[in-house]
Amino acid sequence: MTNKEQLIRQARAECKKQYKSEPKFLTLTPGRINIIGEHTDYNEGLAMPATIDRWICGAVCECQDKLFTIYSLNYNDKVIITPTGAEKFNTVWKQLAAAAVHVISNRYNINAGASMVLGGNIPIGCGLSSSSALVISITRSICHLFNIQIEGRQLARLCQKIENRALGTAAGLLDQYGIILSKKDQFMIIDFQDDSIEYIPAILNNNTWIVVNSQVSRELSESAYLQRVKECKEGLEILKREFAISSFRDIDQPMLELLKNKSDVSYKRLCHMIDENQRVVDMKDKLQKGAAEKVGAILKESHKSLKSLYEVSCQEIDYMIAMSENVNGWYGGRIIGGGFGGCCIHLVEDGAVGDFTYYITENYRKKFNIIPEIMNVTFPEGFQYI
Ligand code: GLA
Repeated sequence: MTNKEQLIRQARAECKKQYKSEPKFLTLTPGRINIIGEHTDYNEGLAMPATIDRWICGAVCECQDKLFTIYSLNYNDKVIITPTGAEKFNTVWKQLAAAAVHVISNRYNINAGASMVLGGNIPIGCGLSSSSALVISITRSICHLFNIQIEGRQLARLCQKIENRALGTAAGLLDQYGIILSKKDQFMIIDFQDDSIEYIPAILNNNTWIVVNSQVSRELSESAYLQRVKECKEGLEILKREFAISSFRDIDQPMLELLKNKSDVSYKRLCHMIDENQRVVDMKDKLQKGAAEKVGAILKESHKSLKSLYEVSCQEIDYMIAMSENVNGWYGGRIIGGGFGGCCIHLVEDGAVGDFTYYITENYRKKFNIIPEIMNVTFPEGFQYI
């Protein structure tokens, strides 16, 4: 795998090759995981993301034309976007890039251009926020180049809007907050109801956080995601008619019993939501106590709930979680991100990392004829200029 230093070197060299110019500045935008608090961000809930040591590196230089040219090292392809235009493209990365350029240029009256090279080592489209990182990387670069100051939370909202517009999704703010507002070696605890963020040390001595890419593509995830958002909202609307409540956070378990008869689907979704919020609170406590076994147990409960109540898992990841139980020193794991494939995280004792890696790779390959990608992750700072 290309490491951070290589990403920087490659982006710098490609900038000279493509644009005959030294970059004016470089950027590093990390991907993110989520320790706990899945499918809670769009329901005013709690989540605990952290950046991971996988990045998109950008090299940016000025250009005389009123055009934005973005060259992707990963796709070995480039896109040219007019700031005042409304071009549409048929590949995801170009669509995201165009939406970023159009929204920022329009909002801040930019009628100039820039040239960029982007290259990254975040596995694409598998729940580690490669799309959000791409949008953040381009948006921040344009702002920096044209001296536009945007405060972190505001920037996160803007990038969320760009991404949702480009992809036709209704995603929450987890990815953007996780990437823009994170701190090195810290887990964030975000409360999406009051917009508060707390940071706790990402320390669990003698243990390793492992991300496994199932290599299962998340094709149906966008429509299913929108469906989940809708089912939760419908549940809240039904309960609002019965109880004096105004937000998701006012819902408690006894209220849900009433929902059970009216909409079993919304009932299951909101049961997950209530328990998952509580798991974020419990996770904070167990992490602070260094209680690895209990941290693992919370991960397992979350996976069970994402599988049976929220119904966003897939058989390949369910198999991986079930098989992991056989590894001594594996504490727990769960699917992360939007779901329906992509990645899962695992907490494994340092001494058991080798066994875990071998056992999962071999069994998963035998069962599905797929080689999973296994990444031991650390937690670097969020977006940075270099
Ligand atoms: C995707 C979305 C996030 C969040 C997660 C599920 O990653 O982009 O906003 O909803 O799914 O927790």
